[in-house]
Amino acid sequence: MITGLTCVICGATYPADFAGYVCPNHGNEGILDVRYDYAQIASSFTKENLAADRNTTMWRYRPLLPIRDDATLPPLTVGGTPMYGAPRLASAAGVAEVWVKDEGRQPTASLKDRASAMAVVKAQERGAEVVTTASTGNAAAALAGISASVGQHNVIFVPASAPQAKIAQLLAYGSTVALVDGTYGDAFDLCMQASAEYGWYNRNTGFNPFMTEGKKTAGLEILEAFGWDPPDAIFVSVGDGSIIGGVHKAIKDAVGLGWIGRAPRIFGIQSAGSDYMVQAFEKGEDVLTKPPISADTIADSISADLPRDRVKAMAAVTETDGAYLRVSDEAILDAIPAIARGSGVFAEPAGAAPYAGLLEAASRGLVSKDDKAVVLVTGSGLKDVTSAMKAVTSVGTTPMRIAPTLESLRAALNDRKDQST
Ligand SMILES: Cc1ncc(COP(=O)(O)O)c(C=O)c1O
Ligand SMILES: [Zn+2]
Repeated sequence: MITGLTCVICGATYPADFAGYVCPNHGNEGILDVRYDYAQIASSFTKENLAADRNTTMWRYRPLLPIRDDATLPPLTVGGTPMYGAPRLASAAGVAEVWVKDEGRQPTASLKDRASAMAVVKAQERGAEVVTTASTGNAAAALAGISASVGQHNVIFVPASAPQAKIAQLLAYGSTVALVDGTYGDAFDLCMQASAEYGWYNRNTGFNPFMTEGKKTAGLEILEAFGWDPPDAIFVSVGDGSIIGGVHKAIKDAVGLGWIGRAPRIFGIQSAGSDYMVQAFEKGEDVLTKPPISADTIADSISADLPRDRVKAMAAVTETDGAYLRVSDEAILDAIPAIARGSGVFAEPAGAAPYAGLLEAASRGLVSKDDKAVVLVTGSGLKDVTSAMKAVTSVGTTPMRIAPTLESLRAALNDRKDQST
């Protein structure tokens, strides 16, 4: 049961049926946090009845979600993604266990389906004719796909530079697509103006308070998979900071219900070329006054001049005794084949970044040999094949180019053997 929405800046509280998106005292910076009555929820929602629930989608956590009892849920299967133990990655990182949570298995191949499913439910609850978002690509693909599943009109703003696969998804799903000649920030600002102008339901990250609630279901799944005995560290890549805020919210929910006794440490991972949060963390800067940076990274999904959800994103790390870490684009690219070979999970650059972050944390002694670490792979490698090809080339992997004969194969295999001896 939701009790209201609280501004992350001033703490002002608004009623559960508040029709706005942000705290009026703080304009677009005044992001709201959805509040619940945990005592009341815990009286009927228990670990045991959750364990007996055969619904494995994100909606299994419905008592902890801000949707009405009569909400119609979209038909696509969102949530319930697998998490795999990866002992070879654990030994490479020098920790006891590494678990890879594969969000590439979502219907549109990224974690953003969790938020977009929530957006579509909320848009329909409000009878919105059109729902809109700006996005680096994945949130847009997610909104496009979930909208298509229920016939919800949607208008999407993405930078024209977004990877082709993400744009192809938007077009295939039949969205109205605006390819903006500019950055994600430019697309965001235009989407905000357009939604005000046309009255479209606004799904934007770091603006719509319900998106964190959708994303937190990934964190709840992690905690539940560990039997509510949390891992020591969770590694999350950070662009706008909404996913990491969602993972933190899952932990707060579980603490609120009395289901976990201690919080895992949350590590936020950014590219060195898009390291707003790392800078603020290292220098103790106030994210409300720190100006935007000029972001540039191969990991398009985590390229953000000014992380929109930075207040929640900073709290996720500081309140769990974690850290913000930067990794180079080269380390992010190297992490793509490393995760693929070490676990069988194929990640896009932003999805691989958390593993690069784990290696960085290990090299700095921030995780220990007894630790259990979760690497949240937020998006599929098929989202950005150009980067994957760059990654395998940079680690020296080349295919054998051969004629369709056994002779040619034998010669090529012999060459390889010679090279590797
Ligand atoms: C694959 C992937 N990883 C990470 C992120 C970063 O999420 P956030 O912007 O909430 O920090 C995104 C956001 O687009 C994403 O698509
Ligand atoms: Zn406020």
